[in-house]
Amino acid sequence: MKKTLVLAMVGAVAAGAMVGGATIAMAQANVVKERQENRKQAGAAMRAIKGIIDAKGPTAGAVAEAAKLKTLEAAFIKMFPAGSTQDSKALPAVWTDWAGFQAASKASDAAYDKLAAAAGSGDQAALAAAFADTGKTCGACHDKFRAKAN
Ligand code: HEC
Repeated sequence: MKKTLVLAMVGAVAAGAMVGGATIAMAQANVVKERQENRKQAGAAMRAIKGIIDAKGPTAGAVAEAAKLKTLEAAFIKMFPAGSTQDSKALPAVWTDWAGFQAASKASDAAYDKLAAAAGSGDQAALAAAFADTGKTCGACHDKFRAKAN
């Protein structure tokens, strides 16, 4: 009787641990999807700004896109729990050089501020220059922390 009870308890604990493991694995799969979706939106915001530049009209519309980039960046940097590498292009360097990864994110964040200021100024050339600079900060992070497309 006692032995059965103990075995049942061991079984329950083991089952609980398995459920816990599966939950973590699922959460990490979701977080990878979420951050990829986040970057897709960042790409869309950049394309929208490119469209505004190419149209050679008013630049003010890019202010909201720059703000979107800032919001996305703040969320993005929080989407990297350890071990969330499955179906991800994030390189191990994200975790081994976490300070460098954060610095790359901060560099983009600072570029979004300049982008917003340029957009608000109405100066098309300034917006184009800030856009190019922003793109460089995206690329700088990708060079170090994202696997090349294959
Ligand atoms: C701090 C680093 C960092 C910055 C800054 C950054 N990215 Fe990325 N980006 C990544 C990483 C890491 C991935 C891979 C995510 C994954 O697969 O888990 C990625 C993936 C992407 C993807 C592919 C998403 C998909 O479909 O899977 C796009 C598009 C993208 N980034 C666009 C941008 C743009 C545009 C900017 C700048 C406005 C930017 N990124 C800035 C790190 C960064």
